[in-house]
This record gives sequence, C-alpha cells and structure tokens, in this order.
Amino acid sequence: MPTPLTRNLIVNGRRRKVSVPDDAEPLLYVLREQCDQRGPRFGCGVSQCGACTVIVNGTVTRSCVTDLNTVPDGASIQTLDGIGTEQRPHPLQQAFVDQQAGQCAFCINAMVMGALGWIESRIAEGNRAVPSRQEITDYLSGAAPGSTLNYLCRCGTHTRIVEAIHSGAAQMVRERVKR
Ligand code: FES
Ligand code: FES
Repeated sequence: MPTPLTRNLIVNGRRRKVSVPDDAEPLLYVLREQCDQRGPRFGCGVSQCGACTVIVNGTVTRSCVTDLNTVPDGASIQTLDGIGTEQRPHPLQQAFVDQQAGQCAFCINAMVMGALGWIESRIAEGNRAVPSRQEITDYLSGAAPGSTLNYLCRCGTHTRIVEAIHSGAAQMVRERVKR
C-alpha cells in the first residue's frame, strides 16, 4: 500500500512544501514536477549516469534513486537551476561555456553538480589545491577516494569537460582564498 507523504524542503534557498501519494516517489520527480527545477534530468534512472545529480544537505545525491521518504524534513537542496544566473554564472558554469564543453549538453547537470559537490567538500576539508586533470578524470569515473559514482557523457566531450572542471575549480579556489 503506498503511503502519502508531505515534506518541507528548501530548494535553492526557497521553502517548498511537497506532497506525494507514495512516499517512495523519487526526489527527481518531486523536484521537476513540484519545484520547477529543470537542471536535474532523467537519464538512466538507476544511478549510472549522473544526469539527476543534486546536492542534499551538502552531499552529492542521485535524485533518481533517492526516495522522498529518505530525504529529511527541512533538507536543503541545491540544483543547477540555483547556482548561478545568466548575468552571474557560477565559475563552473562559466568554465563550461568558455571551454564549449557541451555538445548536446544532456550531461552538463551531472558534470557541473557532481564537480561542485566534490570541489566544495575538498575546500571544506581545507584542501585548497586545484584538482589535477587526473584527479578530475578519476572522480568522474568513480575511481576517486570517497566516491564510487561515475558521470557519463554519451557525446564523448570528456576532454573539454575535464578542462572546464579544472578551470572552474581554479576559480572557485581563488574566490575562496580571497575571503
Ligand atoms: S538518471 Fe540518475 S544517475 Fe542516471
Ligand atoms: S555533451 Fe552530450 S551527453 Fe555530454
């Protein structure tokens, strides 16, 4: 028997009250259908590609396999829709544009949000080194310490994606050092 559920979420700093008839509804559907988020996308639906990546309470999360009932009430959720604007893009977004890293761009949510969560957590741990291209490649392929998640680009623009993350990370670190 499905169990209805209501949750209060903070999505990109804005309070949202969401309700589902079945508490096993994936967070991805809730974000897209009830919170107007278009950054997270449905790709594989089984935690293999990263298209649905969001950050929940600071943790990189695959929203396609995250049931709403596992998301704590009051959780803070960051999505691609909220990290920058056209006028003031996030450094990672700007780097992806500068490097022309997207072809079809379906994977860009995965790459930007996965990299954002990873770099933010490195900085929070006191690591202000810009990740090397090899470290970025390892992270995206699920081979980095602490993460087994991998990120897929079916267009094969990996070289530019790695360059974009390297350059965006360098800017993030520079901005953090200034504070
Ligand atoms: S759609 Fe979630 S990992 Fe592919
Ligand atoms: S640019 Fe098309 S899937 Fe990555």
